[in-house]
Amino acid sequence: MIRLTHKMIYVSLAASALLLVGCNSGSGGNTAPVLQGSVIKGPIDKAKIVLKDSSGKSVTETTSSKGKFTFASVNLTSAYYVIESTGGSYTDEATKKLVTVNGTQGLKTLLTKDELQKILTNKQYMAITPETTIYTELVLNSMKNGASLADAIVSAKKLITDTMIKDSSPMKMLPGDKFLQTGDFTTAIPKDQSEAFARNRAISFSYMVRDLKLQPSDVFKVLDLFTTDLKDGSADGIKLTDGRDVNVTSAFALSRLKLFNDTTNKLKNGDLSADQKAQLEKMGFDVNGFANKTAQANKDLKALVDKYMVATTLPTLHVLPVMTDEDGNLADKKETYTLSATKDVNVTIETPNGNWITPMWRYNNNPLPVVIKGHSGNAMTLNFNNKLSHDSTIHWHGFQIPAAMDGGPDYPVAPGASKVYSFTMNQPAAPLWFHPHPDMETGKQVYMGLAGVFLLQDSILKQLETNNQLPSGNKDTVLLVQDRRFDANAVNGVKNLLYKNLRMDDDGMLGDTVLVNGSVLPKQDVSNTLHRYSLYNVSNARTYDFALSDNSNFTVVATDGGLLASPTTVNHIILGPAERVEIVIDFAKYNVGSKVMLVSKPSSGDMMSMMSGMGGMGGMGGMGGMGGSGANSQAGTGSTGTTQGRVANGTGLAIMRFDISTSETESVTLYSQLPSTAKINKPISATDATNTKERQFLMSMGGMGNMGGTNNTNSSTNTNNQKMTFVINGKAFDANRVDEFVAANATEVWNIKNMSPMAHPFHAHAIQYRILSRNGIPASGTDLGWKDTFLVQPGESIRVIGDFTGAIGDYMYHCHILEHEDAGMMGYFRVGNTGHVGK
Ligand code: C2O
Ligand code: CU
Ligand code: CU
Repeated sequence: MIRLTHKMIYVSLAASALLLVGCNSGSGGNTAPVLQGSVIKGPIDKAKIVLKDSSGKSVTETTSSKGKFTFASVNLTSAYYVIESTGGSYTDEATKKLVTVNGTQGLKTLLTKDELQKILTNKQYMAITPETTIYTELVLNSMKNGASLADAIVSAKKLITDTMIKDSSPMKMLPGDKFLQTGDFTTAIPKDQSEAFARNRAISFSYMVRDLKLQPSDVFKVLDLFTTDLKDGSADGIKLTDGRDVNVTSAFALSRLKLFNDTTNKLKNGDLSADQKAQLEKMGFDVNGFANKTAQANKDLKALVDKYMVATTLPTLHVLPVMTDEDGNLADKKETYTLSATKDVNVTIETPNGNWITPMWRYNNNPLPVVIKGHSGNAMTLNFNNKLSHDSTIHWHGFQIPAAMDGGPDYPVAPGASKVYSFTMNQPAAPLWFHPHPDMETGKQVYMGLAGVFLLQDSILKQLETNNQLPSGNKDTVLLVQDRRFDANAVNGVKNLLYKNLRMDDDGMLGDTVLVNGSVLPKQDVSNTLHRYSLYNVSNARTYDFALSDNSNFTVVATDGGLLASPTTVNHIILGPAERVEIVIDFAKYNVGSKVMLVSKPSSGDMMSMMSGMGGMGGMGGMGGMGGSGANSQAGTGSTGTTQGRVANGTGLAIMRFDISTSETESVTLYSQLPSTAKINKPISATDATNTKERQFLMSMGGMGNMGGTNNTNSSTNTNNQKMTFVINGKAFDANRVDEFVAANATEVWNIKNMSPMAHPFHAHAIQYRILSRNGIPASGTDLGWKDTFLVQPGESIRVIGDFTGAIGDYMYHCHILEHEDAGMMGYFRVGNTGHVGK
């Protein structure tokens, strides 16, 4: 007798011999005992479910319906049972593809007679998941090798828990993350809650398979391989048929983080179904609290926008000063500039609520960051004078130049000393920049004001501008966005910059005041035409989610390293520290006299703050919280998200205002496709790679509990007095160590992964890179452009490719959250055989 039922039914145990009989749902207190379970993966529909005894003999069988199954009456006599699910079909959670399961493949679980009885007594039901499948094989294998059933179970459970559950918990670093590390994954205890976790991990398996660029149905093969890997008692790595080595524990952990991040993002955007929300609730996530915070953050931003849309006191946007070639000769293919870094340049900070003076560090005593416009193909000579009292350098961020000229920490320029940087500019037009890169003090020097813009031009760009296919001239503006913290009290009208005066600043320096070209909340008068902006996030640690206050579309025409082959229309763009884009805004839709603001939307990609929404887990000691829209607090614009001048990453911000003040006929028609000669149009694919093994960069954090780095597991006792560590591939920076060796003229695929709860902008020197995929999904939109900095979200894995032709020497790769970099989230890679490091 076989009955299927969808609903959970409470069951009772009649005798020591387990009688498994079917029943109808909702039939009240007189339900006969049945044994029920769930095939969590998928869930799998119409799978054949067989209950086998310890001799492998089929005792009874049934068919699953949307994952649920019920066995009819059986006498339990065997020491253990294996419940196997084969065949059927399911919708893969990661790809949404329908998977028909081969009749010989499927999932299984193993339960002892006692466990089956307990399931009935405690009103549980059995869960059949990818984990239980591996578990079953491990138990059977141990017994084959002579272990007792009891011992085999203990060691297999421990192994699965250690390799698949504990180390992969995305919330491990939070106090209170007990559910994921305890509880029995073979059964659902208590039913609802454990199923939520089991389901979450089953879905993560799909993510992992997708992220490994395998077909959904390959999940069963991966399970087999991983089982084989674990048979010796540890996870050493599996080899895929294409030769790739995969550590399943870390691949799975990444996928779990990715799933968690995707889920909270969907929640934020209102894209979760009621069932998905319920599952999250069961996992301890305060769904309503999160929704309320999101709504509040949006409201706060709207209030800021409403206020500043009508404000009459906004300062006028500064146009950054452009330096000119010192010999004045534009035809000689040579450009010469001088940059002197000096301290204590008195800068007037203009704000909507009055001005003050701040001593800053600047180049050439200029109160504003300077702009160099160089031309590709020309030789560059840059005379640098260090007038600081500490080593400094000029690093040419985004340039493809020999390492000896790249301004890394291995070529420091001492206080009072000078250095001549000379190189040929040999790459497509791009919004590049420059900044100091001394060992352990990059963050401070940039923060104090040393950073400049380098707009590299080339003939293609010039042609687009002269052909009126890109706005230019006074319709082409650099916007340098940086957040800062100023001393709250002015003394004689002077407010000093504060750097790392709060403990949390070690995790990334976040201020409460956003400067655009040196001013707080400036406005720019524009005509009702297309305008182009080179938008630079030159903040030490803040990520922005840039958008227009009315949510209008705008067009991205360039990324870090050059123009896009074709412009991409978006309604927001997330920029991590050091990322740049060029955008074109069409003001034609606005009436003359109207205004629109540039804002940063709340909760821009920082899971850290989202995780503080976890129910019962408490806050993150000032780290998280979506805060309100508290920025610009120095300008008196409210401070709900502020703790002593630190506005949480992800807080909504008002950035600047565009006042559509004049009417003009449009003369520009935006290009739709770059000429075929543009370098970006040259195809490059993974098959061009000369490295047979993709290079791996795994970013992680320690000190709050461990995500794949060292062995710190006291996740429940972490408090705020632990200093965090930031590492790549488990290693902190060593000035005398080269970590990666790239052959001269190589083309390499790099895998950049983030196994930590916050986003990190990974930056590599030497060349411009192209993104191939994110978590196995091919690049599209703005990801198709040249990039030197990649904001990698928690759990994300980005595959990039680069042609190292022309690069030579020792270059840096690092997180561009400058406090992470200074703390050691950095390494050297050598291109070619010779280098400077460790000599
Ligand atoms: Cu802009 Cu090594 O960095
Ligand atoms: Cu750089
Ligand atoms: Cu970082």
